[in-house]
Amino acid sequence: MNKDVVCIGAGYIGGPTMAVIAKMNPDRKIMVVDINASRIAAWNSDDFELPIYEPELVDVVREVRGKNLFFSTDIRSAVKECDIVFVGVNTPTKMFGRGAGRASDLQYWEATAREIKEYADGDKIVVEKSTLPVRTAAAMEAILNDHAKHRFTVLSNPEFLAEGTAVKDLLSPDRVLIGGPQDEAGIAAIAEVVDIYAAWVPREKIMTTNVWSAELTKFAANAFLAQRVSSINAIAGLCEATGADVDEVARVMGADHRIGAKFLKAGPGFGGSCFKKDVLNLVYLCETFGLHTAAEYWTQVIRMNEHQQERIVSRLFKAMFNTLANKKVAMFGFAFKADTGDTRETPAGTVARLLNDEHVRLAITDPKAIPNAKRDLADIAGDGAGIVFEEDPYVAAEGADAVLLMTDWSLYPALDWRRIFDSMRKPALVFDTRNCLDGEELRRIGFKVLNIGKDICGAPTCR
Ligand code: UDX
Ligand code: UDX
Repeated sequence: MNKDVVCIGAGYIGGPTMAVIAKMNPDRKIMVVDINASRIAAWNSDDFELPIYEPELVDVVREVRGKNLFFSTDIRSAVKECDIVFVGVNTPTKMFGRGAGRASDLQYWEATAREIKEYADGDKIVVEKSTLPVRTAAAMEAILNDHAKHRFTVLSNPEFLAEGTAVKDLLSPDRVLIGGPQDEAGIAAIAEVVDIYAAWVPREKIMTTNVWSAELTKFAANAFLAQRVSSINAIAGLCEATGADVDEVARVMGADHRIGAKFLKAGPGFGGSCFKKDVLNLVYLCETFGLHTAAEYWTQVIRMNEHQQERIVSRLFKAMFNTLANKKVAMFGFAFKADTGDTRETPAGTVARLLNDEHVRLAITDPKAIPNAKRDLADIAGDGAGIVFEEDPYVAAEGADAVLLMTDWSLYPALDWRRIFDSMRKPALVFDTRNCLDGEELRRIGFKVLNIGKDICGAPTCR
């Protein structure tokens, strides 16, 4: 008999993952529970105004919600009912005490484990879906199984989905990773969770390991990806200084199959809920185990990322005649990448704050992220402050001295840039930090153009 599944945490990870699991396992009941009632109400809303935006997600939820996928706040009943309990609650970077600024804050995770223990009325398989520090499963097992009436087996099943492509990544993953104890109960529990994914993922792509390897792999994979972004951004600075073109360098480097073409796009630096958090976690782990040089190595990946945003503001400052006060900058894009409304750790947030320090009048536009941008900048964007939010990019750009493109939404290259130019104050600058616009065309129109990793201002190509 197929075992029913509950996921605690209806966020970016829990929601899409369970929706796809439900779609591909029509014979299983899948429940998603959360303490946040308004979030659950949004998942259940009649008009399918889901709490997160992901391409194709709404179609999947429409197909399965109310059939075998259910959202609720009733954690107690769901835990009682289901034999397999995924946990996808948030594990933010700890901001206090030991490990502040680096370690994960595990309080929600532990509280959830205690709830599972309290509500369980039989043996359960508990699956870590949140990214957790190595050896968390051991701590959780200790809490769950101490003087417990039932037996809990803790597995780690880290999620590798990227935002904006969550449904696609879930439907055809490069791999699924399931780590568990290598004893009889652990191996049986792993087999149960393998079965869930085997409904649509080829068996050879479902990889099983011990728990520690699974937990560490998630950090290591994200740290490697983040490191590639910092590496190409480090090369971008050198390109600007030497007249090389970072997109050309990346294209040729990426043709070497040992390097590969992905994650070589220079830009404003990485954002998102995972990269910084996971690299910081890795740093903390290295330090905990006395691996100080390794800790310093990974710290530089984050330092390089911050430097990229500082560099953007410095270059804008220089290109705008060393004074930004009272000038209007239209920020095109606030999400940390295209096709998501998510703004967690977005480079645009850091840049907006640096520009605000310079007394820039900032008009922020984004097709999906304005509500999050308003919330993120609430402390500096109150009434009368120099920050406005504008749905329409043409309106945002009116009277601006510069357009600063921060997110590579596909709508931006398709805009009428002559119309934008005509409405701006002159000289009109475009700083395309994603190198996604047609720079030649912009220059023909009359813009001064800055990019990342090419065409430094003052160089022959920057007219
Ligand atoms: C995030 C990170 O992206 C991921 O890397 C990490 O592994 C887990 O946290 P995500 O799904 O994006 O995952 O988090 P979020 O969107 O914040 O959702 C977490 C949900 O858990 C929230 O809806 C929150 O209300 C819920 N929650 C939190 C509970 O239901 N119970 C709790 O005790 C705490
Ligand atoms: C990432 C991982 O890809 C995913 O496997 C993990 O589960 C969660 O973290 P996500 O944060 O959604 O996913 O986004 P991703 O597409 O990886 O991009 C991260 C950041 O790097 C974005 O800000 C993006 O703009 C930036 N990036 C990515 C670059 O600047 N250049 C690149 O070449 C690739």
